Amino acid sequence: MKAITISSGKERANVALADVPKPVLTSAEDVVIRVLCVGLDGTDREIIVDNFARFPEGKSDMIIGHELLGIVAEAGAESGLSRGDAVTALVRRPCGDESCVNCRSGQQDFCRTGLYLERGIQGADGFLCEYVAENAKYVVKVPAECLPYGVLVEPQSIVEKVWNEAQIIQQRMLWQPRTALVTGSGPLGLLAALTCRTLGMDVYVWSKSPEGSLNADMIRSIGGHYRQAGESAPGEFASGLTEYAQQLGTGFDMIWECSGYAPLGFEVIPLLAHNGIVALLGVTPGQGRLNVPSDMIYREMVAKNKCIIGSVNASRQDFATAIQRLCTIEQQYPGMLGKLQTNRLTPRQVPEIDFSRISIKAVVDFVSPAEWASLL
Ligand code: BGC
Ligand code: ZN
Repeated sequence: MKAITISSGKERANVALADVPKPVLTSAEDVVIRVLCVGLDGTDREIIVDNFARFPEGKSDMIIGHELLGIVAEAGAESGLSRGDAVTALVRRPCGDESCVNCRSGQQDFCRTGLYLERGIQGADGFLCEYVAENAKYVVKVPAECLPYGVLVEPQSIVEKVWNEAQIIQQRMLWQPRTALVTGSGPLGLLAALTCRTLGMDVYVWSKSPEGSLNADMIRSIGGHYRQAGESAPGEFASGLTEYAQQLGTGFDMIWECSGYAPLGFEVIPLLAHNGIVALLGVTPGQGRLNVPSDMIYREMVAKNKCIIGSVNASRQDFATAIQRLCTIEQQYPGMLGKLQTNRLTPRQVPEIDFSRISIKAVVDFVSPAEWASLL
């Protein structure tokens, strides 16, 4: 079968469309999935552009891709799934350390050893290929009517994990978040903004995309506020965000840092309202350093009960909530989730991919969407 593989390159990773053996059913709990499409995100960009890959043990190449939408082609007798079911899959697999209580309890997204595997990212082949074999434990059924946006379930699961964590943490009082700030307007930032809108919040998005960009238009069309970020000097706070927040005259109950630009993670802390929470979700590959007004930030956190969390990956429950949420978003803002998938690629186009030309999100089709329904 065809697969997109990567190996270490001189600067960028070498990306190839290769022929690899088709996987087979090896256990009654497994399924073989026909891949319909796979989304690409910032992590894939980092793996390809920054040559950042952790290959499976003993190998010097790996199939990439971790945002799967597929259809069960063969189902093991004990898989609980059937041929024709639309599915996606969790990304992370538990570590083997007996003392890792989280991995031992199906919460590998909270793995304590760092020895977990992530399909397409760390130590395990991913999903950018024609067929994938997987234990049903890690496979999540997607309702057939969600097929047009099913490829967004994995990125939405990242948003759901954060929302769930915020709910748990904020039980420390009565919490009724009314305003949210999202920094970054890539797929994750847009999904966070859409989610907050469906939860009834006022949403402000701060990002580098120009005012006339599709990202900015999408935010405005859902009733959100968009403001383009200025340029900032290295080591300094991003220019303009603090001033923008002061103009608005409101603190934010919840802040989603989705840009991966680390200085923003610090600049936003004073912008939280009393008892607010900041979630950091971006990927920062660099080694940046920053001058921060440490006393002021420390005081802000203490005197106003502020909370800052980092969050990565997601659980099976978060995938289930993600499906529900995407349905709600689709009802409330019809067509928006389709619009977000701006660049559809064939597998042949992936080796030469230029991420700077992807408007919002790239999706690689292994089966043309017109044919999907015939496989159900
Ligand atoms: C994926 C997560 C993964 C993280 C770090 C993200 O792009 O969505 O599932 O844990 O990368 O590897
Ligand atoms: Zn673990």
